[in-house]
Formats: sequence, structure tokens, C-alpha cells
Amino acid sequence: MVLAIDGPAGAGKSTISRMVAARFGWTYLDTGAMYRAVTLLALEQGIAPGDSGALGQLAENAEISFQPGPGGQPRVFAGCREVTEDIRSPEVTAAVSEVSAHAPVREAMVARQREAGGQGDVVVDGRDIGTVVFPRAEVKIFLTASNTERARRRRLELEGKGVAVCQERMEQEIAARDDFDSSRAVAPLRPAADAIMLDTTDLGIEQVVDRVAEIVQQNQSG
Ligand code: DC
Repeated sequence: MVLAIDGPAGAGKSTISRMVAARFGWTYLDTGAMYRAVTLLALEQGIAPGDSGALGQLAENAEISFQPGPGGQPRVFAGCREVTEDIRSPEVTAAVSEVSAHAPVREAMVARQREAGGQGDVVVDGRDIGTVVFPRAEVKIFLTASNTERARRRRLELEGKGVAVCQERMEQEIAARDDFDSSRAVAPLRPAADAIMLDTTDLGIEQVVDRVAEIVQQNQSG
């Protein structure tokens, strides 16, 4: 089955998806990492974030792959090179919304996502999984949390890596990325009509994982 988990930045998608996949022994596909890898390569190759044609070509040719990593955290590769850390840099984060808004980039990525997710049981997280990539996913969940809480989580994540950031700036960045991702013409961030909304503002990680697992089990037994 396909479990589609969509939502804005910092709602907890990747942590929750990884843990739910581990609990059921399913595969986890992080589609944000794919857009980030294309963005990293574009920055390195000096391709402008507005150059739709060149970005589409890059997205089509880039060899992006995943391997299981420690704690179920997928390791990301571009060709033979590991880019797991590099794709989370502030430069990539600042450019990824613009790069991922181009239709040719999305077409190339969506085709690969369908291929990767089309086999077996899989948890796929992103922005358009329930609406575009897998509109027939058996279970769709849209994770949300307040802006303040999402910024707080991102700040703690960065601080854990030794990067000092201020809360207010994080809130502004997150709001800007949400705006961009929600208002783009192609596959904007929005819940599918049949998605289950789950607000995680006041929930701990384990509570969210339990809730998602419960929803999956209800679907399986129904
Ligand atoms: O989940 P993330 O923060 O790693 O995603 C990075 C960006 O990639 C996000 O700002 C928008 C884009 N993205 C997308 O457009 N569609 C997806 N399915 C996943 C991510």
C-alpha cells in the first residue's frame, strides 16, 4: 500500500514517515530530498534557479538514489557521491522552492517517484503526494503544526547540528517557503480532498506515529 504524507516544512513529515515505515517494515521515500539533490547540483553547476529548461534536463539526467542509513535515516546519493548532509545546507534550503516549482523538474521527479513507490508497501512524504504523485494512495495524511512550533522544531534540528539560528528568522523563512510552495502553479502544497488532517502542534513524535499507525491499521482492516 501507499501511505502518502504531505504537509508544510517542519510539520514532522520526514521523522514521522521514517518511524512509521520502520514500524511496519515498509520502504520510506523522501521526495523532498530528491528536489534538494537537484537543487544542490544546480547550484554547483551554476544553473540559475529560473532556468526551467536547464533544470528540467538536470532533473531528468541526475542519478539520485537512496540507501538505508543509521536509524532508518535514508542516505542520499547523486551518482556515487553521498549528498545526505549537503542537501540540507541553508543555500539549498533557500533555493529549493524555486527550483522545485518548474514543471519540467516536477515531471522528471514525479515519474521517478511513481516508479520507486509503485512496488510494495511504501511511505512517501512530500507536498503533492496525495494530490498528484499518488492520487489513489490508500491512506493520505496531511500533517500540520503552528508556524511557531514548526520554526521551533527546525531551530532545534539546526542547533543540534551546531548551527545557531534565531526563532523569529526561522518563522519568517518557514512562512516564506510555505507561501511559495502553496502558491506555485504546478502541484501546489495543499491537502487532497480525501486526506486526513493531523495537527501535531501539541503532540509528541511517538503520539503522532501511534496515530498514523492506527489510521493505517484501520484502513487495512477495513
Ligand atoms: O520536505 P523538504 O523541506 O525537504 O522539501 C524541500 C522542498 O522541496 C520544499 O520546500 C518544496 C519541495 N518539494 C516539493 O515541491 N514537492 C515534494 N513532493 C517534496 C518537496
